[in-house]
Amino acid sequence: MDASLVVLFLSAVKLVAQSDMGYVPVPLHGASQSSTKGESTASLAIDKNPSTSSETECSFNTTLWFRVHFSAPYCVKEVRLKASSKHPHLNWGMQHTDLSVKNTKTGLKSKCGELEVKEGQLDYTVKCTGEVCGDMLELEVHHTQPKYSYEGCIRLGEIEVYSGECPGLAVLVGEECAAPGLVLRYYKY
Ligand SMILES: *[C@@H]1O[C@H](CO)[C@@H](O)[C@H](O)[C@H]1NC(C)=O
Repeated sequence: MDASLVVLFLSAVKLVAQSDMGYVPVPLHGASQSSTKGESTASLAIDKNPSTSSETECSFNTTLWFRVHFSAPYCVKEVRLKASSKHPHLNWGMQHTDLSVKNTKTGLKSKCGELEVKEGQLDYTVKCTGEVCGDMLELEVHHTQPKYSYEGCIRLGEIEVYSGECPGLAVLVGEECAAPGLVLRYYKY
């Protein structure tokens, strides 16, 4: 096969793979937050254990944030999060948290959506509207008085980011995105 055929073939593989792909979990690493309450570090939100949680300090008139980096740039389709099950009334502090995806190289930030906290609910899915691409997810909340009766804070049992496709030319193999180089080597013979 010559190079252009290989590229054509890879694009076809990618198209077929994407058409019934659904959601690809985005690999997350390097979580950080504006402040940490006690031992509730940011990384506890991405440790795949929803019973441990990240917690910022709670306060009025301050922007509290939580950030997590992706292993590569992705276009984000939705964010699933579980609020902390510890002192759940404090989760009102996350009311109207903005979720956005940032490209840390260009500084471009696109809003995915906003969290709407509901009484007694811990699990939330925020679907991104429009094309929201980058290599970092940022949550920000800012509560002023008297509009909000609870101090702002971010408290996550777990957070997961989903994309509709693999980054660049990578293709989905099983539940993981594989670099096209691997596929190229395989199909060369
Ligand atoms: C927050 O800012 C508002 C408006 O400036 C002020 O009335 C309020 O006292 C401030 N609250 C705190 C806790 O600093």
